[in-house]
Amino acid sequence: MLLKAYYGQGLGTRLMALLEEWARAKRLHRIFGEVRHKNYRAIALYLKCGFEIEGIARDAACIDGEWHHEYHISKILN
Ligand SMILES: CC(C)(COP(=O)(O)OP(=O)(O)OC[C@H]1O[C@@H](n2cnc3c(N)ncnc32)[C@H](O)[C@@H]1OP(=O)(O)O)[C@@H](O)C(=O)NCCC(=O)NCCS
Repeated sequence: MLLKAYYGQGLGTRLMALLEEWARAKRLHRIFGEVRHKNYRAIALYLKCGFEIEGIARDAACIDGEWHHEYHISKILN
């Protein structure tokens, strides 16, 4: 998570690259995450980094009275 002042400068992309480098060094097979379906910036970041949407959890979170779906996203590393 970045402070808003630092959004859009490529830091998220660099952090994801570091995360993947760490995971590969540990010989992990798969990275998995969940992202709210209206978090367009994060979804764009994950897709750009090679993650795929593998499922959807409907009405997984209620925020300020509004229900949000969550995408399950993952990347297979080898
Ligand atoms: C998600 C987050 C880490 C992204 O970090 P960032 O430094 O802004 O991301 P980047 O600058 O590397 O941009 C990555 C991609 O996001 C997309 N993007 C950037 N701004 C966008 C916007 N306003 N709307 C949609 N997509 C956008 C672009 O595809 C961009 O790639 P590109 O610049 O090569 O086109 C950051 O916004 C954040 O900390 N958000 C709050 C926490 C959060 O939502 N975490 C994810 C929870 S699952």
